[in-house]
Amino acid sequence: MTKALFVVSECAPLVKTGGLADVAGALPLALAAHDVQVRVLLPGYRNVMKQIGKTKPVATFDDLFGGAAKLLACTVAGLDLLILDAPHLYDRDGSIYGDATGADWPDNAERFAALCKTAAAIAVDGVDGWTPDIVHGHDWQAGLTPEYMIDAGAKAPFVFTIHNIAFHGNVGADKLGALGLDPARFTSDHFEFWGQISALKAGLAGATKINTVSQTYAEELLTPEFGIGMDGILRARQSDVSGIVNGIDLAAWDPATDPNIKPYQTPAGKTANKKALRKTFGLGASNGPLCVLVSRLTEQKGIDLLLDALPALLARGGQLALLGSGDPRLEVALLEAADRHENLSVKIGYDEALSHQMMAGGDVILVPSRFEPCGLTQLYGLRYGTLPLVALTGGLADTVINASPAALARRVATGIQFFPITAQALENAFVRLTDLFSDKKTWKAMQSNAMKQPVGWETSAVRYKDIYDSVLGTGQ
Ligand code: ADP
Ligand code: GLC
Repeated sequence: MTKALFVVSECAPLVKTGGLADVAGALPLALAAHDVQVRVLLPGYRNVMKQIGKTKPVATFDDLFGGAAKLLACTVAGLDLLILDAPHLYDRDGSIYGDATGADWPDNAERFAALCKTAAAIAVDGVDGWTPDIVHGHDWQAGLTPEYMIDAGAKAPFVFTIHNIAFHGNVGADKLGALGLDPARFTSDHFEFWGQISALKAGLAGATKINTVSQTYAEELLTPEFGIGMDGILRARQSDVSGIVNGIDLAAWDPATDPNIKPYQTPAGKTANKKALRKTFGLGASNGPLCVLVSRLTEQKGIDLLLDALPALLARGGQLALLGSGDPRLEVALLEAADRHENLSVKIGYDEALSHQMMAGGDVILVPSRFEPCGLTQLYGLRYGTLPLVALTGGLADTVINASPAALARRVATGIQFFPITAQALENAFVRLTDLFSDKKTWKAMQSNAMKQPVGWETSAVRYKDIYDSVLGTGQ
């Protein structure tokens, strides 16, 4: 039995802003089947504290970055959780990363340093008679963990997973004292990054092994375009960097049993869901493909490209139902476009049940991202027979088989990819899409291929186990 401590800032079903939460909620369960026991260390945000029910106090801290804190053990949805209850850091209105206006909390560095410091304490002293063999951090919020592990004298290896390198968690060097970091290691081979403290860099420098969430993104990260300043350190550590594609929770995303939809097992079952979805979004009948998009609305996701290319889809009878929230400028631009086009309907907000209905009722899931470490919605789409139309990048390149003449001839295509990632190429992809959609026989064959593609965690969980074995020296 291998014992691993996940250090992570979100975890489904308790708290989620994006795919990181899905991974933190599903991978531990998949690893359990491979003799790995995972405990997930998670901040006790106000909304998390409301949901966890019965807990067991397992440690106390008199002063954790400005206040007293407790560590609470509990089990939720089959996950073994360690909740860091530190009200001065986490008991707030607003979102988990910022206030109601969308601005980051000014003390985010301390808020997540507290999580990392607690992880280091657990690595040394254990909790509840349980000491991890491995500490596994995710994204910059867990990045300072190896620094505190050095200070605490922890011996366990640290594995670091990059879900999105765009977020560095940088703060000014004046926070060295407040964060309790050793000034002697404020150097470029530890956590110094262009004169600042970088939590992400600390994680990359201190990790025994680094991985990211798809093979293509692992290669992209080594280039200046995608590495966003971290490509140098990643190239220096190239032999320790790997890509492991994410899976999805096959129980939560199963068209045959999904309680949010009219369940189905073959593409024909989508018709009733499509009708219901059109009604929900106030869209009329049309012979073109009904596209859906579910996303955070940020620069990364290529929403501006979509707005430019959309007329090409609508002119060919296509429709788009979009659900998302984020950048207020993108929200306004989408709502304005929806006023102009009767076949575009936009809902601003976050709605888990509706996202399932969209996967069931759509013909096509759009993911026009400028970069995408893995992406999960195209995987949901595959399972629901909702064919992905995606940018050729990161995990979108690795999980979708483009409907090229060769793939169509071999009957293996599952979607459409476009490149370069421009509005013009997306427009061209919409033309290909509407042509393909009108060829009903080919479309149905692609749907059947898509629904058969394995998109669960099985293969990838084994690869994480292999990393654990290699850092512990227990592999064969
Ligand atoms: P990222 O992590 O970059 O946001 P992913 O595709 O990996 O992208 O994961 C996004 C997750 O968040 C998916 O589970 C998606 O369904 C969900 N999601 C994003 N926006 C919304 C929304 N507005 N309503 C419901 N679910 C959403
Ligand atoms: C990040 C990435 C996304 C990935 C998710 C889970 O948020 O943007 O591509 O699927 O993490 O790893």
